[in-house]
Amino acid sequence: MKAKAKTVYVCQACGAQSPRWMGKCSDCGQWNTLVEERVEKTKGGRSSPAGKSEPLLLSEIQTGDEDRFVTKIGELDRVLGGGIVAGSVVLIGGDPGIGKSTLVLQMLRQVSELRGKALYVSGEESPGQIKMRAQRLGVKAENLYVLAETSLDEITRAADELQPQAIVVDSVQTVFTSELPSAPGSVGQVREVSGRLMLHAKRTGIPTFIIGHVTKDGAIAGPRVLEHIVDTVLYFEGDRGHAFRVLRAVKNRFGSTNEIGVFEMKEEGLAEVANPSELFLAERPKDATGSVVVSSLEGTRPILAELQALVTPTKMTMPRRTSIGVDYNRVSLLIAVLEKRVGMHLMGMDVFVNVVGGLKIDEPAVDLGIIAAVASSFREKSIDPNTVVMGEVGLAGEVRAISQAESRLKDAAKLGFTRCVLPAANVEKLDKAAGFAKMQLLGVRTVEEAMERLF
Ligand code: TYD
Ligand code: MG
Repeated sequence: MKAKAKTVYVCQACGAQSPRWMGKCSDCGQWNTLVEERVEKTKGGRSSPAGKSEPLLLSEIQTGDEDRFVTKIGELDRVLGGGIVAGSVVLIGGDPGIGKSTLVLQMLRQVSELRGKALYVSGEESPGQIKMRAQRLGVKAENLYVLAETSLDEITRAADELQPQAIVVDSVQTVFTSELPSAPGSVGQVREVSGRLMLHAKRTGIPTFIIGHVTKDGAIAGPRVLEHIVDTVLYFEGDRGHAFRVLRAVKNRFGSTNEIGVFEMKEEGLAEVANPSELFLAERPKDATGSVVVSSLEGTRPILAELQALVTPTKMTMPRRTSIGVDYNRVSLLIAVLEKRVGMHLMGMDVFVNVVGGLKIDEPAVDLGIIAAVASSFREKSIDPNTVVMGEVGLAGEVRAISQAESRLKDAAKLGFTRCVLPAANVEKLDKAAGFAKMQLLGVRTVEEAMERLF
């Protein structure tokens, strides 16, 4: 008698399994994400690919540097933690059309020119399309191999034959293994494919880049489980309406997750942006009300950005509060501080706050900047265009110290800013010799004091 094939229902968002179909995943709470998948018996237990493992004495472990390859695309190398690590698996996620394929193709150009053979596996585009893109990017064809294939077994077989220095799989959602009956892109497939690519990378030492599309709610399509499998997870972000793109590490076994790389999408591909502050301040209006320059720390790197606020009388019973690029609740809180501590009547006003250039800032050090921009627009007084504003603001209206004030000031001085309003607590600790000696530092303790200094 033939046994009935066992099936389970797998949530395509988080990977949770359930014996029955449900409308809502009981694990992550998402709706309509459960899909029926057949259960496959795993043949025997899984063992480590390297054979038997023994516990090692910590003091006897050699830390020898990982074998790293520097691509010479500085923004990429930094995010990777100093280059591509042999045998590592990197997942690159991002919205469709943001430039993932362009980025990896430019990376493979470097690999093929500096190190040897590189393999670009595409399940999305035909070799002809890839060739066209490569021509646009000015990629020389030597040593760069293209494989239009979606079968995992074929991909690993081709890789074993070619022995490239790096592999890109674009995208994981198009690849399948015939051992699973489910469709490409389903949780089971994506997980299995990634797991097997990981084993392949560890066995051969070939660094492998997996591209994953992101769903509208921002997770890498299908499974978050994937993030646990791979060594490094990078997100490529940006606003389709703007040319700049940010590469961000959210997980990295071989480096810091604090780093970002900034690129600009041009006609001939992605160009590195060595000094992002210049880019974000390029079109700043001088002497306009509601505009202020703030410093935001992206990883270890300070970036200067323009923050704008517009305060207008409201026509509704409930005034509008809109924020783009900064946290909405943060803005509401700071408006309340302005009302209560400075006595600014914002109750009857709509307040709009925007970070120029599509940048997203998630750092308390811009609090004082938000306050300054709102106050500037409300009072219709512009802020001196050579002034940078930084500082965290508490509910009592106190201005609190921020981290890495020195590197922020250095960055600002480099771009020609001459004045900075910052927390008094920071000024006391500063080493003036550190590259911003000519800058006028205005330390403030409260929001009111900051208002006096600014206007
Ligand atoms: P692509 O790398 O295909 O994005 P993804 O792989 O993330 O889906 O690139 C997307 C967009 O970038 C595409 O709409 C065209 C644009 N682009 C340029 O502006 N310049 C270029 O040199 C290239 C190759 C693409
Ligand atoms: Mg693509």
